[in-house]
Amino acid sequence: MSLSLKSIGSWAVLSLMMIQFIPLDRINPPVVSDFQTPSSVKNSLKKACYDCHSNETGWSGIAYIAPISWLVSSTVSSGRNVVNFSTWNNEKRELKQADIIKVIAACPLHQRLYYICKPEKQLEPRERKMIIDWLNETTHEQSPML
Ligand code: HEC
Repeated sequence: MSLSLKSIGSWAVLSLMMIQFIPLDRINPPVVSDFQTPSSVKNSLKKACYDCHSNETGWSGIAYIAPISWLVSSTVSSGRNVVNFSTWNNEKRELKQADIIKVIAACPLHQRLYYICKPEKQLEPRERKMIIDWLNETTHEQSPML
């Protein structure tokens, strides 16, 4: 009994070591056309959203340890697929701005696990209001450029 537990344990440790060698995409492609905003709005978006919705992801230490790294890297790539602030000129802006307002208004429900792990990245109520106000003001200005 104790022998088989021990061998299961060794296999588990060995497997955890082996999966570290599976290559993953943790690259930050170049920033092509960054979302143009006042710096106060930009600072808040960078803090709370850029890790998953830009090419300026701050890959933290945990992003290098499998199997957590798999979750992190797939979250970032699906985040970049839906909204990427670094290639903003290719985005359907008006549509995206409306979605962003929705996400920020319901902030605690979006990517809850990330904000539990990194509470300092959470938007304060004041920041949410500032971003939403600015987006509401600019959504229509930008629409002719769609
Ligand atoms: C931990 C990574 C992560 C962070 C941080 C993050 N997002 Fe997302 N976001 C995602 C992923 C993954 C998706 C797509 C799948 C989904 O909806 O869960 C997504 C989807 C979206 C969408 C598409 C609409 C929707 O709800 O599916 C919008 C808009 C969005 N995020 C805005 C934001 C904004 C604004 C912030 C900052 C306040 C932010 N996200 C922070 C990962 C993230």
